[in-house]
Amino acid sequence: MTCQPTSATAAFVITTLCATPTPGFAATPLSYLESYGSRGDPVRSLTWAMLIISTVVVVIVTGLVLWGVLREGPAEAAGITREGNGLRLITAGLVVTVVVLLGSVVWTMVVLAEVGAAPAAPKLTLDISGHQWWWQVRYEGETPAETFVTANEVHIPVGEPVRINLSSSDVIHSFWVPALSGKTDTVPGQVNTTWIEAHAPGTFLGQCAEFCGAQHAHMGFRIVAEPRDRFEAWLADQLAPAAVPAERIAAAGQETFGRRCAACHAVRGTTAGGVFGPDLSHLATRATLAAGTVPNTPGHLSAWIADPQHLKPGTRMPVVPLTGSELEQVRAYLATLN
Ligand code: CUA
Repeated sequence: MTCQPTSATAAFVITTLCATPTPGFAATPLSYLESYGSRGDPVRSLTWAMLIISTVVVVIVTGLVLWGVLREGPAEAAGITREGNGLRLITAGLVVTVVVLLGSVVWTMVVLAEVGAAPAAPKLTLDISGHQWWWQVRYEGETPAETFVTANEVHIPVGEPVRINLSSSDVIHSFWVPALSGKTDTVPGQVNTTWIEAHAPGTFLGQCAEFCGAQHAHMGFRIVAEPRDRFEAWLADQLAPAAVPAERIAAAGQETFGRRCAACHAVRGTTAGGVFGPDLSHLATRATLAAGTVPNTPGHLSAWIADPQHLKPGTRMPVVPLTGSELEQVRAYLATLN
């Protein structure tokens, strides 16, 4: 739509529909009434328009119904007759309905066309795979040495469209970042492609939007949009192999991790190479644990390792029996992965 106001009322409506708000979505992280990217903006305008139209329709219909129920006297007294006037009212109602519905359909088609393809060829392509109940994120580099895997936290450069190839390792999930893009399902045995773009730096929360089992609600992720230079610094950090732990407790933790955790988890630059669970390279740089279930703090990390079934009942991570000192060692080791 064009964003040229012609009157005060039009200016108000257009401001609501076209404004590019500054990131302030933290209070309502999954609100689809605000958008921060070129894929979300057309959908946001359409959503507001539909909301306003639907509200007006409900108000008019409710008003007419109430007027019909509460008024006194015969229908003819209100000018409603079987011949002439009554038919005119029905025809007018039909015409208004058809025009509004047709307008909505055309606008929807225009928005679908707008969000279908990225405005420019994406320079960055990510492979994101849904798992019960977390997200695997693969950054494909020019060479294997520049390729890495991470989980649940997706960094992207601001102002650039990013292509995302979506797949699933088990059941159907749905990739949804309300502030940036609509939903795209991840379907086993098939690759669906979508794209996102953020025109402002910030952290945008995403959520699996297809019921996928017991912990569907705890299958969150976050998109961190940053300026190009900071994004590249993050890439370089992620590619760096894990440092050899300096402290004794962390070194012992690495050994314990190798024995008890490495069958499922990988840490790049070490012998831990499990692929069943999330890749834990640079785990300490992530904001949350267990796909957005709890913040990544030492207390939550200990609680998660000690009894993941308590924090996230049904999670595929089993309770691994560890002694108190082993638990403390593993936690200390994971805290060094930054
Ligand atoms: Cu994955 Cu719901």
